[in-house]
Amino acid sequence: MEHVIVTEGLGKRYADGVDAVRDVSLTVRGAEIYGFLGPNGAGKTTTTAMLTTLLRPTYGRAEVAGLDVVRRPDAVRRRIGIVFQRSTADADLTGRENLELAAGLCSLSRAESRPRIRELLERMDLSEAADRRVRSYSGGMQRRLEVAVGTIQDPEILFLDEPTLGLDPQSRAGFWRYVRELRRKNGVTVFLTTHYLDEADALCDRLSIIDRGHLIASGTPAELKERRGDDTIEVTLAGEAPDLTAAFASVAGVRAVARDGAMYRLKCARGEALVTKVALAAQSREVEIARVVVRKPSLDEVFLEMTGRAYRAEGDPNGSAKGAPPGGARAG
Ligand SMILES: Nc1ncnc2c1ncn2[C@@H]1O[C@H](COP(=O)(O)OP(=O)(O)OP(=O)(O)O)[C@@H](O)[C@H]1O
Ligand SMILES: [Mg+2]
Repeated sequence: MEHVIVTEGLGKRYADGVDAVRDVSLTVRGAEIYGFLGPNGAGKTTTTAMLTTLLRPTYGRAEVAGLDVVRRPDAVRRRIGIVFQRSTADADLTGRENLELAAGLCSLSRAESRPRIRELLERMDLSEAADRRVRSYSGGMQRRLEVAVGTIQDPEILFLDEPTLGLDPQSRAGFWRYVRELRRKNGVTVFLTTHYLDEADALCDRLSIIDRGHLIASGTPAELKERRGDDTIEVTLAGEAPDLTAAFASVAGVRAVARDGAMYRLKCARGEALVTKVALAAQSREVEIARVVVRKPSLDEVFLEMTGRAYRAEGDPNGSAKGAPPGGARAG
């Protein structure tokens, strides 16, 4: 399998001594949607900036499309598209004018750029707003315009830095569809940073989790969840039932049992494989089961296990990184 992005021991220390990225080695395959997941300040933007030739690594090396990012920056830039975390659009121009400007910067002719711009405006649901100044766009519209600008030259490899920050659920879903379509139709490789765990889980073929500059885990979402964190079988008993904690705990493969009224949470490696045994344990005590659910571990639990800390965006008073994005000011 062709490796489109390769880093070996990549690191960045900023002038003020901050070690933003430490010894990161990863590989991204062709036509893969690769997630680079981590809380605020983890080093996602710094890594993206090195891969897109905008920031020089302090140590280590990186290749994009087989080209060394330090030695061949111009060649790398011709192959990639970038959507920045911070908005780059000119607010005094219209959406269409911004796209025309971007097309000019990558030397697309007018004949090439016209239909391309029309198509992108349509896809990003911006056709109606195309001739309004960007200043009047909502945060979500501005984000969608950024994506259009970043994909104007039909890149082989697309870097997206927090592309969905500040988007409402509907716009996020639309964006995911667009990314999947880009990959399916054009075979684009996508390197996407996000601090939304659910986004990485739903969208990415493989992902890495970065925390305080260190890569702490890599794999498919399913692999990561399987390697870390147990399944939970939730069993709810029907009617008046005796305490079955001991009975469930004695089922081979069950590692722990927690009871909450009529509901029991059983921890085990593979929930599906144990459901029948658990049901039999209840049946043999003549207790009826009202409901059984197998819950897979989420990436939240993976993060917790790897770092000993809950996954939350620093400075986010709401705690969970799944909720409203912190720092809304950056959103558009
Ligand atoms: N230009 C800079 N000079 C000094 N330190 C920096 C600079 N840019 C980033 N940092 C620091 O490097 C670390 C990583 O920052 P980076 O922006 O790469 O994180 P991030 O994962 O993109 O975070 P976020 O989710 O907030 O976008 C942070 O501690 C940050 O404060
Ligand atoms: Mg960032």
